[in-house]
Amino acid sequence: MTDKSYSPGLEGVIAGESALSRIDIDINRLILHGYDLVELTENASYEEVAYLLLYGELPTAAELAAFNQQLRSQRDLPGPVVDLLRSAPADAHPMDLLRTAVSSLAFFDAETPDNSHDANVRKSVRLLAKIPTALAYGYRFSQGLEPVAPDAELDHAANLLFMLRGEKPPAYEVEAMNTSLILYAEHGYNASTFTARVVASTLADLYAAITAAIGALHGPLHGGANEAAMHMLLEVDSPAAAEQWVLDALAQKKKIMGFGHREYKSGDSRVPTMKKVGRQIAAAIGDTKWPDLADVVEATMMREKGIFPNVDFPCAYTYYMMGIPIPLYTPIFVASRVVGWAAHVIEQHDANRLIRPNHIYTGPDHRAFVALSERG
Ligand SMILES: CC(C)(COP(=O)(O)OP(=O)(O)OC[C@H]1O[C@@H](n2cnc3c(N)ncnc32)[C@H](O)[C@@H]1OP(=O)(O)O)[C@@H](O)C(=O)NCCC(=O)NCCS
Repeated sequence: MTDKSYSPGLEGVIAGESALSRIDIDINRLILHGYDLVELTENASYEEVAYLLLYGELPTAAELAAFNQQLRSQRDLPGPVVDLLRSAPADAHPMDLLRTAVSSLAFFDAETPDNSHDANVRKSVRLLAKIPTALAYGYRFSQGLEPVAPDAELDHAANLLFMLRGEKPPAYEVEAMNTSLILYAEHGYNASTFTARVVASTLADLYAAITAAIGALHGPLHGGANEAAMHMLLEVDSPAAAEQWVLDALAQKKKIMGFGHREYKSGDSRVPTMKKVGRQIAAAIGDTKWPDLADVVEATMMREKGIFPNVDFPCAYTYYMMGIPIPLYTPIFVASRVVGWAAHVIEQHDANRLIRPNHIYTGPDHRAFVALSERG
């Protein structure tokens, strides 16, 4: 390996193959298994997109009904996992709770060590069904509340909101959540997905790979950006203060959370859809403060740096307007992306080669060993 082949942060490096998604640069759209993501958000449910990623085709009506039935019947958590969530410290971050819950679910799945294609798909469906329950239970315990059991009448998005709040959400919120879940479902070889593939490439099981992926998603340069972006917007607080706030932050060389993307240099393809959803929620609650403020931040960033927002930016203020507690934004990202991770783990296991890159050594040259008694 020569130094010329080194790319810090693996920028531009092709690290593997995948049939799951690609960015079509000509139209700046994300394509999932051949389908335009924007079209999917306009026409499909999150469950249909999850099915597409796990099975490679959009479901027929009968297949979707069976898939929904499977998901809804597998939402309950094993008792010891509920106890684990109940016994966690009240100030534990929901991402840590979720990572621990997913890791512990491995104990209770008889197929945990089976990396065959069919077992991996079955485990993925179980995880997809159980993650919203773990998220909601962990959150409610941390607030001193009793958990709200999943409702088999409700779809993925509605049930998630229901278990958090204990009351059925209005249709416009279910639609917003459904859209954000579709937008978050899959995005190529991002850091958390690559983590999952690296772990799977050792032939470790799906639970191990997804537990590691949750750890990778938590950081503010990745999924944690949606929480960080909302904290920033709260600090800005008003549309009138936004321009100066951004100028000051840039003068101090601060990063503006929810902006920039390794893959998109002319705008994140998912943003227009999520911004539209944000405006719809603002109209429904009769208060446009947050999207107005966000527009000023966006315009200032464009003028000063030419940097576009990424999907975490409109997701952050949309979730805020829906009254979702900020520490749950990245866990909700998990509840969606788990299907993308799982599909990548399945691809990796189905055609595995250990992922093991090289590095450039930057340590000292060969040194003569000095006995312990002679070291000063
Ligand atoms: C996503 C991210 C890590 C991509 O990073 P990257 O491809 O390594 O790009 P770089 O960090 O090298 O950025 C290139 C330039 O743009 C600047 N930049 C990138 N994102 C920026 C941001 N959010 N705010 C201010 N400046 C930013 C960098 O400072 C750098 O400027 P320089 O060349 O003058 O040093 C980066 O844009 C970022 O940290 N964004 C904020 C966190 C976030 O929203 N993450 C979610 C991603 S979906």
